[in-house]
Amino acid sequence: MTIGFFDSGLGGLSVLAESLRKLPDQDYLYMADTLHVPYGSKTNAEVKEYVFQAVERMMAEGIDALVVACNTATSIAVEDLRAMYDLPIVGMEPAVKPAVEMNRATGKRVLVTATLLTLTMPRYYALVNRVDEGGIVDSLPLPELVHYCENLQFDPDVMVPYFQSKLAPYNLDDYGIIVLGCTHYPFYADILRSMLPPHIGIVDGNAGTVRRLSALLNRFGIAGSGSGSVTFRCMGNEPAYLDKMQTALAFISERLEARENSKN
Ligand code: DGL
Repeated sequence: MTIGFFDSGLGGLSVLAESLRKLPDQDYLYMADTLHVPYGSKTNAEVKEYVFQAVERMMAEGIDALVVACNTATSIAVEDLRAMYDLPIVGMEPAVKPAVEMNRATGKRVLVTATLLTLTMPRYYALVNRVDEGGIVDSLPLPELVHYCENLQFDPDVMVPYFQSKLAPYNLDDYGIIVLGCTHYPFYADILRSMLPPHIGIVDGNAGTVRRLSALLNRFGIAGSGSGSVTFRCMGNEPAYLDKMQTALAFISERLEARENSKN
């Protein structure tokens, strides 16, 4: 069976890395929309059209389940995708609910970072309204971060000052958790960890997404008989980008492994 992972660019590789660890007996097809990345600065209608074009290509190649490994694409298109295609589809949304629950005892605030488009969609407002009874959630778009990630810019000398300037308006003593609500952002989890006060937790939705994928695969009886192979595709068919995807997947997989090892 082949699980399709889709994102505007490299971000979804942070989810794929988690899936390769937890579900190594599946095969994967990863599609990046290199013709239109970044999605965060496009309109709702544009992104919807791009997502359908990309998923159509993935369907033509043959996938048995789909992970929309992009918060922006999910908030705009996941319902329409489910109505259109007859296969299990897992979407992503900023991990606001677990963050609010984890933070309840501390009385501190939650800072949700994501693309501007995600943060201005009705789906996000509905999510916050549903789970944020105490009014403790603040939202911060980080539009430049997707661009940095797409250029494999992980140099702390560049990234620490960037995050410092974005976080300068916030009194970090008031916050207990930062949510990484865009799949490009977990590439910067280690840099953020190194500069944030230790009381602030960093949460993303990747592990939860893979848990939902696993449950769905079980429910649909899509047995894992693959070998963890990854086929890389991009909408513009740029050979250099295919290399970049391999580099980015190796980078994030290494960090994920180091993080898991340090927990054990
Ligand atoms: N990685 C995407 C997300 O999770 C979108 C980034 C973008 O293309 O702006 O929202």
